[in-house]
Amino acid sequence: MLEIAEARARLSAASAVAVLTGAGISAESGIPTFRGPGGLWRNLRPEDLATPEAFERDPQMVWEWYLWRRGLIAAATPNAGHRSLVALEQLKSRFTLITQNVDGLHDRAGSQKILKIHGDIWITRCSECPYQRRDRSTTEAPPSCPECGALLRPGVVWFGESLPRIAWDEAERAVSQADVLLVAGTSATVYPAAGLLHLARCVIEVNQEETPFSHRVAISLRGTCGDVLPRLW
Ligand code: OAD
Repeated sequence: MLEIAEARARLSAASAVAVLTGAGISAESGIPTFRGPGGLWRNLRPEDLATPEAFERDPQMVWEWYLWRRGLIAAATPNAGHRSLVALEQLKSRFTLITQNVDGLHDRAGSQKILKIHGDIWITRCSECPYQRRDRSTTEAPPSCPECGALLRPGVVWFGESLPRIAWDEAERAVSQADVLLVAGTSATVYPAAGLLHLARCVIEVNQEETPFSHRVAISLRGTCGDVLPRLW
């Protein structure tokens, strides 16, 4: 495939590389995506589960959903797509992995520098004060905050909330300075994350399906992350 060869050449020539990943890269590990066939948002409404208002209305139900997702993730393992990004990081002196995923599979694969712009499902934090901790529980909603007594919540970003400031600033900087932005397994429909594509000089997209950006990027590769990414370097 000519496009694969072109993508390989561009990545090989790039000294600074940024990568943006989405739920599609974890799909081959058995973790459901949000949109598309089998996607979580096919049967569930984000406003019922992934907003501050939903948590205020029914914290128990929101926790149950996140604990169920933690269970799925705990049973999963990183796949060839995650592992290939570890290899790419080792090849490039200027490398930044930006992920919208909260599952932690990039960490478990061995990636070092990860900007988690939508947070981390394995963090439990206070809804009022700065208290937070790592939390492996997949069965029980945590009790109230040991510091201030307020409700503890999952350490993820919900719709309507700001992205973590430091990670987001670093992501914007890395993408603006990168020779290539590799975008893998995201529908590129959720902003501000999708806005990163506008800042990039050259975008290579890897996705099973067409996205709103497919016609605007330098190279759009159709296939799964687990199959395509390991062939790119
Ligand atoms: P989506 O579910 O919106 O998109 C997943 C994308 O991955 C789709 O474009 C699929 O075609 C593609 N895909 C699926 N399997 C694939 C595979 N094996 N290889 C390559 N591509 C594959 O997930 P995101 O784009 O990550 O936010 O969604 C962005 C945000 O929306 C999430 O971070 C989450 C969600 O609501 C919050 O919760 C704030």
